[in-house]
Amino acid sequence: MPVMGNPLCAAALLAFVVSSVSVSLLIRSLQLGAHKGNVTNGAADDQELASRRSALMDQLNQRRKEIIPLLSARGSEKKLLAESRYFPQQYQSFSAMFDYNLWNEITDGSRRMLMDELDCDSLVGVQTGNVLGSGYTKLVVKVVLPEDQPVALKFVNEQGNDMEKCLEDFRDPRGCLELVAYKLKKEIVLLQRLKHPNIIKLRGHCMEDPGHGSERGGGRVTAILEQGYPLQMIQLLQSPWEERFRVCLGLVRLLHFLSRSPLGSVGLLDFQPRQFVLVAGELKLTDLDDASVEEPACRTDRDCLLQFPHRNFTLPCSGTGVCRDLNQKRNLYNAYRYFFTYLLPHQAPPGLTHLVDHIMNSTGELRADINQTLDSFEQILLLYKSGLHLDNLPPSIITGYTVMRGVATAGDLQYPCWPSYSQQGCVKAVHSALEAAALCSAHSQCTSFSLSGHTTWTGHLLASFRSGFSHLLPDGSSEVYLRKASVV
Ligand SMILES: Nc1ncnc2c1ncn2[C@@H]1O[C@H](COP(=O)(O)OP(=O)(O)OP(=O)(O)O)[C@@H](O)[C@H]1O
Ligand SMILES: *[C@@H]1O[C@H](CO)[C@@H](O)[C@H](O)[C@H]1NC(C)=O
Ligand SMILES: *[C@@H]1O[C@H](CO)[C@@H](O)[C@H](O)[C@H]1NC(C)=O
Ligand SMILES: *[C@@H]1O[C@H](CO)[C@@H](O)[C@H](O)[C@H]1NC(C)=O
Ligand SMILES: *[C@@H]1O[C@H](CO)[C@@H](O)[C@H](O)[C@H]1NC(C)=O
Repeated sequence: MPVMGNPLCAAALLAFVVSSVSVSLLIRSLQLGAHKGNVTNGAADDQELASRRSALMDQLNQRRKEIIPLLSARGSEKKLLAESRYFPQQYQSFSAMFDYNLWNEITDGSRRMLMDELDCDSLVGVQTGNVLGSGYTKLVVKVVLPEDQPVALKFVNEQGNDMEKCLEDFRDPRGCLELVAYKLKKEIVLLQRLKHPNIIKLRGHCMEDPGHGSERGGGRVTAILEQGYPLQMIQLLQSPWEERFRVCLGLVRLLHFLSRSPLGSVGLLDFQPRQFVLVAGELKLTDLDDASVEEPACRTDRDCLLQFPHRNFTLPCSGTGVCRDLNQKRNLYNAYRYFFTYLLPHQAPPGLTHLVDHIMNSTGELRADINQTLDSFEQILLLYKSGLHLDNLPPSIITGYTVMRGVATAGDLQYPCWPSYSQQGCVKAVHSALEAAALCSAHSQCTSFSLSGHTTWTGHLLASFRSGFSHLLPDGSSEVYLRKASVV
């Protein structure tokens, strides 16, 4: 069966790509030359201009070459595509077809991608909303589509450092826009290839035909994404352990997926909290343009050095001459230094601290791989959900409380606790009434607590604690526990 990994096929595609970019750029520079030509310029200026153009062209080709390996599907994915309705089984070279379609779409925006639900038409007439974030390369804006669907639109940041630096180097606004747009195109390809609950969902994309809309450069690229909120580390540091654990667990699940993704082992070269957003409390990777699917070649272990500001690691050079698991290990150590150290140990449930400490040590020393790390996280989740880590709570605590079902309190006298799910009073996630009773008994101000029907992502109950209340109201979904010693 013919495969896209076929070097001949890839070479043909590459030749096609490279020649087409050169031709289109040549035509473009001729056009630009015709408009802005300065006939009084000397030969030296012409030469400088020509060398600048060819350097820009080299960079454009470089960026295109980076995308090619991402376009070719691997075995398992091909099978999936073969079985999908778009690619009939008898269509032997469907994956080559698929890649050509995708490539055409990416390069000239000629056709709508089969995989996306939204496209340029979806954006007609929508009002630009507020800026959600921006970086060196990209600008992200919130818009609301019909039927109240909020989405995030990602563009090239024309005021960003990437664009600024390119303009300095090449002084070609159109060429630079195209060059910088390549990072966004690469990201779109990666988002199409890498689908995971902890990667931002690509809802669609829009690529204008480079021949049209030339007013602002033409060929503009927009990624249409699920909308999230920038990760606020300071805010996260103040949130309950369960929420911080959720972020770390999401990250570990993501890294596990990336270690054996459809594209191979993916390394995140620029790994920082600002590459992630939260969607309803769930961590999602949004900045993928600096992802790498290559592991460096090596001759000895010394070629496989992983450097961090306070720590270096030497990884084994495999028999086939690549630094095995380098991407995976770099991702994992970055997860440790940017996320786990800040989010994980602080206020971990007492029954789980030994497991958390173990994770901190094994990832901090890179002794565990991502599989083992994921196992440890899932084990903690299981214990936490089942309440097994609470097995040393004396069941008699609950006898110190009188329960009233079907009522809620009103006119509460609140007291603060930290961290709390509510800014007004003390609200905590508990596994059971017993755990809530133990917490209330440990707070001297606490005279009663209630459990409502509200639960957290782990299924824990939200319990509100208070030092008093004025009266009771009927409420079928609530129960109130009065601390007996405080009943007068
Ligand atoms: N889907 C989204 N919803 C909400 N905000 C988002 C979304 N995607 C990105 N952002 C915000 O926009 C910022 C810029 O996006 P992105 O990181 O992709 O751009 P960048 O130019 O590559 O940034 P950097 O310079 O950090 O590498 C992000 O830091 C994030 O805060
Ligand atoms: C043409 O070149 C001269 C001398 O280098 C310069 O002063 C002038 O501004 C240039 N004109 C344009 C339109 O670039
Ligand atoms: C890491 O390696 C670099 C280069 O070999 C060296 O300069 C640096 O001091 C090392 N850092 C640590 C913390 O060992
Ligand atoms: C891991 O544990 C060892 C032994 O207790 C200790 O020396 C080391 O500093 C710990 N490393 C980290 C990253 O916590
Ligand atoms: C991780 O587990 C997968 C199977 O789930 C296996 O294919 C892979 O080789 C494992 N990786 C390591 C580094 O053990």
